[in-house]
Amino acid sequence: TDLPALLAAMPKAELHIHIEGSLEPELMFQLARRNGVTLPYASVEDLRKAYAFSNLQSFLDIYYAGASVLLHEQDFHDMAWAYLQRARHDNVLRAEIFFDPQTHTARGVSMETVMGGLHRACTDAKNLGVDAELILCFLRHLSEQEAFETLEAALPLRDRFIGVGLDSSEVGHPPEKFARVFARCRELGLHLVAHAGEEGPPEYVWSALDVLKVERIDHGVQSARDPALMQRLAQDRIPLTVCPLSNLKLRVFPDLAQHNLRALLDAGLVATVNSDDPAYFGGYINANFLQTFAATGLDVRHAYQLARNSFEGSFAQASAKRRYI
Ligand code: ADE
Ligand code: ZN
Repeated sequence: TDLPALLAAMPKAELHIHIEGSLEPELMFQLARRNGVTLPYASVEDLRKAYAFSNLQSFLDIYYAGASVLLHEQDFHDMAWAYLQRARHDNVLRAEIFFDPQTHTARGVSMETVMGGLHRACTDAKNLGVDAELILCFLRHLSEQEAFETLEAALPLRDRFIGVGLDSSEVGHPPEKFARVFARCRELGLHLVAHAGEEGPPEYVWSALDVLKVERIDHGVQSARDPALMQRLAQDRIPLTVCPLSNLKLRVFPDLAQHNLRALLDAGLVATVNSDDPAYFGGYINANFLQTFAATGLDVRHAYQLARNSFEGSFAQASAKRRYI
């Protein structure tokens, strides 16, 4: 069989994509012009040259600056629509899309503007054959109070998102900081996920599970350092949304050949492959599959396992999941 062709063509779900991280430099400059925003870069090439990261924080600084061009509902729509067309191209049938409202509300852009544009793109995506839903992420470098205020602002639009997540600077901002926010979201019937064990220690994965009670772990690759945690993740079938090219660009692993995706799968974990911030890390979901398989020697059985894991790990309706799997 032609493994690269299979990886590209197989139906898949994407469970870890930050929509602000899908904003390509070309669209960023187009929106800057449209909105009269001045970017601190002379050109698309100049901007791309700045995409040389040493860790998570060095990326986040540039990622938040890039989002400054997003002002109007149409801007959020256009960004999400561009991603959804890419997703269709990669045969993504289900996309669960993160967005960071605090990055925008802090600049005076309303929750209605952000979610209005993103949700309209998700609705339009039905015509592409992509089933897309939104997950609201709290920025963990900000306070519990600010997270509660963000939740309050979003609740009038409760029918436009299916869950909440936790992202941004991990080390120094353990899951416990948001215990009460997540408890409230759980009462509201929202799905719960959190970034944990990207740069942070296995302890953060434990507390995401036991304190926040999340259903999935975003990244989670540091879990491999803790055998008891690996057993817990396997036993409870907690999905890990792994992002290999992100891990490479943010230097979580020195090269893709050293990535632990294969070890996670071989330990029986529900690991999945995702793009995280494809405009910044140099590849959408199929590029993540192709490059990781080429570098680590994963085979056709791993390909089927990863495709099945992506639908099993999704928050799609049980009936839709059965159809996908
Ligand atoms: N926000 C966007 N991408 C992120 C990542 N990889 N980790 C934490 N926060 C993020
Ligand atoms: Zn992420």
